[in-house]
Amino acid sequence: MRISVIGCGYLGAVHAAAMASIGHDVVGIDIDADKVRALSRGDAPFFEPGLPELLQQGVRSGALTFTTDMSAAAGAAVHFVGVGTPQQQSGHAADLSFVDAAFDALIPHLREGDVVAGKSTVPVGTAAVLAERVAPTGATLVWNPEFLREGWAVQDTIDPDRLVAGVPAGAEGERAADLLRQVYHPAVAKGTPFIVTDYATAELVKVSANAFLATKISFINAMAEIAEVTGADVTLLAEAIGHDKRIGRAFLGAGIGFGGGCLPKDIRAFAARAEELGRGESVNFLREVDAINLRRRDRAVQLVVEGLGGSVFGKKVTLLGAAFKPYSDDVRDSPALEVAVRLNGLGADVVVTDPEAIENARRLHPQLTYVESRDEALQDADAMVLVTEWDEYRRELSPEHAASLVRGRVVIDGRNSYDASVWRAAGWDYYGMGRP
Ligand code: UDX
Repeated sequence: MRISVIGCGYLGAVHAAAMASIGHDVVGIDIDADKVRALSRGDAPFFEPGLPELLQQGVRSGALTFTTDMSAAAGAAVHFVGVGTPQQQSGHAADLSFVDAAFDALIPHLREGDVVAGKSTVPVGTAAVLAERVAPTGATLVWNPEFLREGWAVQDTIDPDRLVAGVPAGAEGERAADLLRQVYHPAVAKGTPFIVTDYATAELVKVSANAFLATKISFINAMAEIAEVTGADVTLLAEAIGHDKRIGRAFLGAGIGFGGGCLPKDIRAFAARAEELGRGESVNFLREVDAINLRRRDRAVQLVVEGLGGSVFGKKVTLLGAAFKPYSDDVRDSPALEVAVRLNGLGADVVVTDPEAIENARRLHPQLTYVESRDEALQDADAMVLVTEWDEYRRELSPEHAASLVRGRVVIDGRNSYDASVWRAAGWDYYGMGRP
């Protein structure tokens, strides 16, 4: 099928490459000429495992092209819109200007019978408004949220755990849903649940899924706060409650909390939208979820200060990690970077290392010192802080090796990734998050 993908960021670039890999003829369209040039060469503009291979393959075969020219969308049967919906500069609501601009540019190229599939995360009610704008062209709007995780985006796109299509009522909606089933044919053939809904439900599925995940993380971080004043160990607690199938162990990792381009801004936008709808109180708890999450960053800073005897001033503190999570170079709202910035503000001599995210981090916070090599970064450190649990910091760094590099054996484990007893046995002062 001929497909266009409008917006080639984390979502769109992966979607375009994945759709080409399952046999479609795909054009990716973005306003950023540098990004389009890179993608056209088969180069991924960001770090995402598996994406370079897919891009190379698609570009080489001719099934995948990229352009800045929106007229290339003409003739595609399905147009995916996956542009960003960041938090507004002032306030918590989502900024829909990129979505509006994408639809403005796309609408003149739509033909009767085309399907426009919105993938961006939008406030509930947006699709209904966009559908009215699309209607005069004879095309049909569907809302088709994505649930991909950075670091697993290729797999999550080709083999998702569910597909959701918000469609208009009647035959038009049925036809559009059928077309989407054809687009996602390998997943549909293997029996992946394909849930057809109205627009509002599809929009809400996405934001409520992210709200639930954020709540789960903040729940366990709230337990970490209680553990901290009672001497309990939140990692054992998570394991024990996680064995209850109704609860489940996933997303009960206590630490410095969630960040990234989705969870933080999505829960804020959801709360802002609920307020507009006169139902602010229904999701008031999301403000607590946000507040608990942000407090964990304070806690990590506090532990470094404590570990260094009351002041970090003039002390060398090495942060292992800058990305908001491993297998990503994304530093948007990264708890890791925020801890680094705060320590720098307290007068510490902060050194940050990360296998993939240094370039992005430097652009955002040029005042910090960045060192590529882990071991070089740890040289003569007075304290080491694990903030992004990359394998090379978590599994592949022994306390003995780290001790041979640092000046002071003080470790703050911001992701509860280490075995405290092993590090203590090697002579380290170990500080976890919600652990004795
Ligand atoms: C998230 C959703 O998982 C995905 O379905 C949606 O499409 C986009 O938002 P992503 O932002 O890639 O995906 O990251 P995710 O893996 O969900 O992690 C989010 C944050 O939570 C990271 O900062 C991570 O370190 C943190 N986290 C995750 C925890 O602190 N504890 C956990 O137990 C799990």
